Amino acid sequence: MENDDGFIMVGKKKKHNNKNKIAIKKEKDKNSGFIYKSYKTKKTSTVANKISTETIQNQIEEKRTKLLESKFYVQLLFELQIIKPLIQYYRSKEKPEYFNVDIVSYGIGNFMKSRISQFQFALCILLKANLKLNGKVYFYDPIFTEVEKEVINNYGFEVIEDNEHGKRNINKMTLFYMPHCNYNLYNNVLGTNWELGKLSKLILIGNDFSIYDENMVSSKLESEAPFLKAILPLTKKVAFPELFESNDIFNNTSIHFFPKSNLLEQSEQFWNMKDKYKLEEFKEISN
Ligand SMILES: C[S@@+](CC[C@H](N)C(=O)[O-])C[C@H]1O[C@@H](n2cnc3c(N)ncnc32)[C@H](O)[C@@H]1O
Repeated sequence: MENDDGFIMVGKKKKHNNKNKIAIKKEKDKNSGFIYKSYKTKKTSTVANKISTETIQNQIEEKRTKLLESKFYVQLLFELQIIKPLIQYYRSKEKPEYFNVDIVSYGIGNFMKSRISQFQFALCILLKANLKLNGKVYFYDPIFTEVEKEVINNYGFEVIEDNEHGKRNINKMTLFYMPHCNYNLYNNVLGTNWELGKLSKLILIGNDFSIYDENMVSSKLESEAPFLKAILPLTKKVAFPELFESNDIFNNTSIHFFPKSNLLEQSEQFWNMKDKYKLEEFKEISN
């Protein structure tokens, strides 16, 4: 389906039951197991920048209504029950019906023109409301335009001004909302917070980690995303419902979290990985 998105993940590559698994894995590695539909980014400086914040907000609100009325959302609410006990531990002192949890969204894309990004933005608003999170909401994508930053502020959210390359060191329960990001970014979030007290306070919504394990050559995943690989067996995940719209918005997306009971059993060697591996900074991570 033709649309305005720069980086659309349309599905994961088909599994092969061929004997020569390594060779197939190598081939799949180019896209780490995901197929993205890309388009030539339109120059946004002239026409697109004239789109008003009001128009964008209306489009996001339309998407929010569509989501609210969807079967997908009803099913998702059911899935979210699983992470509620994690969050409910951090009840806000000032407003006891809310929970003191931040949201950090990386890589949502250009929501002034992308319907996918608009739906993802709308879901972020709904997640905050449904989970009753009253912490801050931060957004960063290197491709954000000024008008998008204004929309973020209009919703009462904050724009992260500098590229953190996913290296945000958390000091409270944080939900990382990173739909369809690159595995390097997931790896940096994990590696930066590679401590028992931090990983157990981290929830990450993004590409299903296990798909990387299935599709990438093991040595490549280990060298390029060592923290993601190491956390896999200790990860609890809840997959997003299968279908929504044209299935290019929340496909292959899962909620990942890392129960303390799993992390407690880990060796010193596991925690020392933090000193062993450098976290890479990629100039342009586009898929
Ligand atoms: C594959 S696209 C996904 C876009 C959108 N979420 C979607 O599903 O279509 C990956 C996004 O990550 C963004 N990105 C790249 N480097 C980033 C960084 N260091 N921090 C946050 N976002 C980044 C890209 O600009 C891009 O918008």
